[in-house]
Amino acid sequence: MPDSLTVADKVRPGTSLRIDGARLLDRLDRLAEIGGSEDGGVTRMGFSDADQEGRAYVARQAVEAGLTATVDAGGNLLLRRPEGHRRSTRPPILVGSHLDTVANGGRLDGAYGVVAALEVLQTLHEGGAETDHETIAVGFANEEGALFPQPFWGSMVLAGRLDALPGEPEDYAGRPLRDALARAGGDLSLLKTATWAPGSLAAYLELHVEQGPVLERLGRSIGVVESITGRTHMSVQLHGKAGHAGTTPMEGRQDPLVVAANLIQAVQRLAAEEKLCRVATVGRVEVHPNSPNTIPDAVRLDVDLRDSDPARLDAAEHTVRGALAALARSGNVRAVIESTVRSAPVHTDPRIRDTIAASATELGYAQETLPSGAGHDAQVVADLAPVGMIFVPSIDGVSHVPSERTAPEDLIAGAEVLLRTVLKL
Ligand code: GLV
Ligand code: MN
Ligand code: MN
Repeated sequence: MPDSLTVADKVRPGTSLRIDGARLLDRLDRLAEIGGSEDGGVTRMGFSDADQEGRAYVARQAVEAGLTATVDAGGNLLLRRPEGHRRSTRPPILVGSHLDTVANGGRLDGAYGVVAALEVLQTLHEGGAETDHETIAVGFANEEGALFPQPFWGSMVLAGRLDALPGEPEDYAGRPLRDALARAGGDLSLLKTATWAPGSLAAYLELHVEQGPVLERLGRSIGVVESITGRTHMSVQLHGKAGHAGTTPMEGRQDPLVVAANLIQAVQRLAAEEKLCRVATVGRVEVHPNSPNTIPDAVRLDVDLRDSDPARLDAAEHTVRGALAALARSGNVRAVIESTVRSAPVHTDPRIRDTIAASATELGYAQETLPSGAGHDAQVVADLAPVGMIFVPSIDGVSHVPSERTAPEDLIAGAEVLLRTVLKL
């Protein structure tokens, strides 16, 4: 924790800035139309055309508000006040989340945190607020990794974890990230220019929907996040032998889909029965050629493991690798497994937690301290700076689905707490 966040920085007297709740809600509605479908779902997968459109919308809103909008080499959208900060002599505070979504996901996951960060910045700007730390709003690129399987892409670049990224990333169809990134205003050859040195940020704040049921059940408007789950994500490729479904005898088949089915069950048991990690999921399977009367020759699937203990995550990964090797051997298929994400569990900064809690109390909002079971850019930025996260309740506790919703008054409450926290830091 840099010594910049001291008691002397507490709320500036006379601060009476309020966010514009109607503007916040209206922007969320407009943004949800981009990539929106009739069932209420939103598809703006990272670096897709819809994602570009969503990013352009937010940038336009910022510029119309008198802010500046730039894109770093990693494709992160950065919004700033044009006049800089006469009084900002200390490292900036970064506030934001991600603008991309999963396939047919919700309207708030990520988008809420970025639109609220814009709202906070615009409120500071319009109110002529002078702060010791400049506030910068960020829309991180490709947090979900739904199209290009490099989740946390933008925050990994910002945090300088370039070694952990593939040199020439591709999407699931083999299209180069280099081109998609260039269309978004980034540059794969210049990623280093987008990295921030440790100590160069005073803090990172992320406001997000809870995506779980805790706050709603307890009737609290504000969640103070104390930790973010660890996550290991693996990409598995299975190569067998294609053949005619009617003429190829059962003995001697090399069917990668049968191996995949057994692996999926092993992954489920790992968490549900063996309790080796908190949750374990296979959420994506690709079968080639995916034809009803052909034995497949290739299957690709993704395994997602989560736990708050890095040792347990390592052990669970080891178990998956062992199970895959055994299943591939007995099914006579070739298996390739690669870990695309190994993200350690992190704790948020205790002093930022206290500041969020005090802000919520001062504004009269009931609050609860809780862990995050979902992954967030904050856990990556934690390499670089102290981080804090604010949650608001998710109706029915659901996320990554079209029915993801939060009550408007809670959305406004979260943004108000975010503004006050920024001012107090
Ligand atoms: C991010 O959305 C995650 O999968 O936790
Ligand atoms: Mn998500
Ligand atoms: Mn998210």
